Amino acid sequence: MTDFEARGLSWPVQDADDIPSNETENPHFYQVLEGRLNRRGFLKGMAASASAVALGGVAGSVLPMGNLAEAASGVSTLTFEELSHGFDPDFHVAKGYDADVLIRWGDAVLANSPAFDPLNQTAEAQATQFGYNNDFVGFIPLPLGSNNSDHGLLTVNHEYTIPKMMYKGSPKTEELSKEQADVDMMAHGLSVIEIKRVDGKWRVLTNGTANRRITPLTEAVLTGPAAGSDRMKTAISKDGVRTLGTYGNCAGGVTPWGTVLTAEENVQNYFKGKPGDTAEAENYKRFGIKGGDHARYAWADYYDRWNVDVEPNEPLHVGWIVEIDPFDPKSKPMKRTALGRFKHEGCNVTINADGHVVAYTGDDERFEYIYRFISKNKYNPDDRAANMTLLEEGTLAVAEFKEDGTILWHDLVHGQGKLTAANGFHSQADVVIDARKAADLLGATPMDRPEDIEVNPVTGTVFAMLTNNTKRKGDQVDPANPRAKNAFGHIVEMTAPNGDHSAREFKWDMFLLAGNPKEETGAMYNKGISENGWLADPDNCAFDNKGRLWIATDGAYKLGVADGVWACDVTGEGRALTKHFLRTPQEAELCGPFFNPDNSAFFCAVQHPGEKSNFDAPSTRWPDFADNMPPRPSVVVITKQGGGEIGS
Ligand code: FEO
Ligand code: CA
Ligand code: CA
Repeated sequence: MTDFEARGLSWPVQDADDIPSNETENPHFYQVLEGRLNRRGFLKGMAASASAVALGGVAGSVLPMGNLAEAASGVSTLTFEELSHGFDPDFHVAKGYDADVLIRWGDAVLANSPAFDPLNQTAEAQATQFGYNNDFVGFIPLPLGSNNSDHGLLTVNHEYTIPKMMYKGSPKTEELSKEQADVDMMAHGLSVIEIKRVDGKWRVLTNGTANRRITPLTEAVLTGPAAGSDRMKTAISKDGVRTLGTYGNCAGGVTPWGTVLTAEENVQNYFKGKPGDTAEAENYKRFGIKGGDHARYAWADYYDRWNVDVEPNEPLHVGWIVEIDPFDPKSKPMKRTALGRFKHEGCNVTINADGHVVAYTGDDERFEYIYRFISKNKYNPDDRAANMTLLEEGTLAVAEFKEDGTILWHDLVHGQGKLTAANGFHSQADVVIDARKAADLLGATPMDRPEDIEVNPVTGTVFAMLTNNTKRKGDQVDPANPRAKNAFGHIVEMTAPNGDHSAREFKWDMFLLAGNPKEETGAMYNKGISENGWLADPDNCAFDNKGRLWIATDGAYKLGVADGVWACDVTGEGRALTKHFLRTPQEAELCGPFFNPDNSAFFCAVQHPGEKSNFDAPSTRWPDFADNMPPRPSVVVITKQGGGEIGS
């Protein structure tokens, strides 16, 4: 039994987002929340659930309820009429808005794409069509450098597949034929599509010259400290630099120089064999790579690349942030190893006042960490070619959340502190490949599954979505992760001193604690929220031009209400007053919300509609609602009827 298991933490096999593999002894210091929350003014104007017993799950862990009764209700600056909670087969958006499906799984990405036929799908067709389970969406205006709000490139991640939803007969993974395994592989990766608003409606231009599919077989390159390391050498990579493709792409970000960052997340699920027998056994255990006779995906049954008994180093080629130039369809995805290898949820950058690029990225697993990267070189708005290499070199750091409201950033630099040969770190390559282990040694704070982390363009503060962590016990709570058995998630706001994102110390505040405040969830929002204002499991997010936060959820449906988007102010009377804007068809999550420059369009991705059912008897056939069509993950564009800024 490992220490991790001894603490009662389990190792689930199939729930990809939830596989814990952190055995670190970093303190889950139990804290009384009262002092921290009061002192930072968190409770001012906030509403808490009727009982705070859920907080910490320990008697005596109390919130100062007295303050709440005195708190004033806030007023939101968001003008839309709130949607009600619900759960049904269709997509819904607030009154006065249109929701149009832009592109669906199987739709043409390239001009030569064949029509989608779910009963006769081929790998060749899928390689030219929109992939499965769209997650991140990023809009970059055309021409590059413009603020065009009617025309641009949309880059979309296809995070993973669900064979039982994709094929007649609802097969299990291990029942897939080689042809189906090939389809499955081609349904992964990314799509780049040119889109344009014509007569008020957004269209995909299948003749767009930048349109492309990126798959697990696309030529790609490892850059940064791990590139060329002996640990990276494999059959497809004799030099440890060349690699193929990207997969498990969850969220991401768009850079100011017009590239897309795509995050490789649940890459542990693609490998079969005996990882414990390889030289990387320790790394693979920490990463949750379990192997076995079959992987969660069928590729390993047909290709040795995903069998660690044959290719023991192959898993080290994934778990990275990958930079893509969507404007050049021949460009190779560049894996930025300087940003560390873990289960990246996403990555968002800001240009610091001193010109350095600062990126924030979270490791989406229970008890994992929040990271920051600072580029060595400076951004030059007039030199895109130079900007293209900014993420190759810099300093990675990990966050320790202190009980006094400070964050300490600890650098992951070889030779410094504990990151020496004595602890198995022989180079910076080892540090970035074993980033989780390095972060363990530096005292990072284990968080409740860090998902999107984004910088607010108006306030300059950094918002981290912590989606949930039902494995956290009462004696493991801390002020930044204050609830045991946290099924609902929370949002933390991080403040760089004087806006300096390279500072060693930040401040942090709790922004909201999700869940239904009418139940014993320990939830806290602005007291002014309506009965439809509560949300659960914040995952992705976006900011509008006014700095308001739009929160997309993944998990609310397990509580009986559809996932969707809730929006709120982050300052003033309406701080944390979340309003329900849209909801997905049942059993879907809402991913990748992204605004166009003038906020007249809101792009979002409906992922895994009907996921609890199967192809043969789906619980929804959204968006086609045709008898011969399964539910299809799709990108939806929201616009205001009559035009104008969304939310205003
Ligand atoms: Fe792919 Fe962290 O959700
Ligand atoms: Ca996510
Ligand atoms: Ca998720």
